[in-house]
Amino acid sequence: MKARVFSGVQPSGNLHIGNYLGALSNWVTIQYDYDSIFCIVDLHAVTIHQPPEELRAKIEEIAALFLAAGIDPKHSSIMVQSAVAAHAELAWMLTCVTPVGWLERMTQYKGKAAGQQTIGDGLLQYPVLMAADILLYQAAIVPVGEDQAQHLELTRDIAQRFNSLYGETFVMPQTSLPSVGARVMGLDDPTIKMSKSAAGSGHAVALLDPPDRVRKNIMRATTDSNPAVTFESPSPGVENLLSIFQAFSGWTQQQMCSHFAGMRYGDLKNQVAEMVISHLEPFQKRYREITSEPGYVARVLLEGAERVRPIADSTVDLVKRRMGLYTESR
Ligand code: TRP
Repeated sequence: MKARVFSGVQPSGNLHIGNYLGALSNWVTIQYDYDSIFCIVDLHAVTIHQPPEELRAKIEEIAALFLAAGIDPKHSSIMVQSAVAAHAELAWMLTCVTPVGWLERMTQYKGKAAGQQTIGDGLLQYPVLMAADILLYQAAIVPVGEDQAQHLELTRDIAQRFNSLYGETFVMPQTSLPSVGARVMGLDDPTIKMSKSAAGSGHAVALLDPPDRVRKNIMRATTDSNPAVTFESPSPGVENLLSIFQAFSGWTQQQMCSHFAGMRYGDLKNQVAEMVISHLEPFQKRYREITSEPGYVARVLLEGAERVRPIADSTVDLVKRRMGLYTESR
């Protein structure tokens, strides 16, 4: 039996080349070796208010982007969190074994809660719901960005606590971080990770950006006051542009050095822009094909949910029996 992989993406903001290089492209490669579930976590998105129409549209957009990137619905389950009721159900059961102190310590919670007058309870519960997503499918491997590593640790803590209170129930999930080279930084500020919520103009290259916008944003990327490319401790902006080029081209470090050393920044940016555009073009073409077939994305999501629901339901059933909650099947 193949080990199970689970990962999730919030249907908010715009997926960008950092999400592609750091997550999606990796999922596409590993999907044949694992039993993979890729989840669009709409219940997480609503921990911050989302306009309903936009959220609804975003869910299908993300699913279509997964498909365009090459996630194969015959091999992987692409599903929406709220379509499988067991996510919310298990989250409650896990909430009851989770000390508030563990949640108040979470870096992401502290960041999101800072400066808010009232803090939605969902924001505090966010990592418990994430633990439920993972434990529901007894996932062995969870590929996430470094910013989610703390949530994964908490997931293991919650699983361990449940197991010690009620007996062995959950598999301990492992965190799988992307390779270092796949970390894409903001174009306007190369000291922070490219973010899909901070996608103000000039920050990110969104996967659906038209070529002229991609070119404009890359040409405006922050570099430094040196005259030309050097590979001896390049500034973060130059390093970021080089690593974007390298990730898309697959060039070796040696090829990179001999081609780019001494090149003026304007020329570097031009070449990075062309490289990115040439990869986004076929991707966007597939996206348009996928979304022009009426009902196709909805069907993929329905099939994904139907495929994973029995796994989720059997975990909830097991948890209920462990806890002494009422089940009809005992
Ligand atoms: N919190 C994750 C993020 O913002 C999204 C997420 C929700 C997730 N549930 C998950 C990721 C389960 C991995 C596994 O990136």
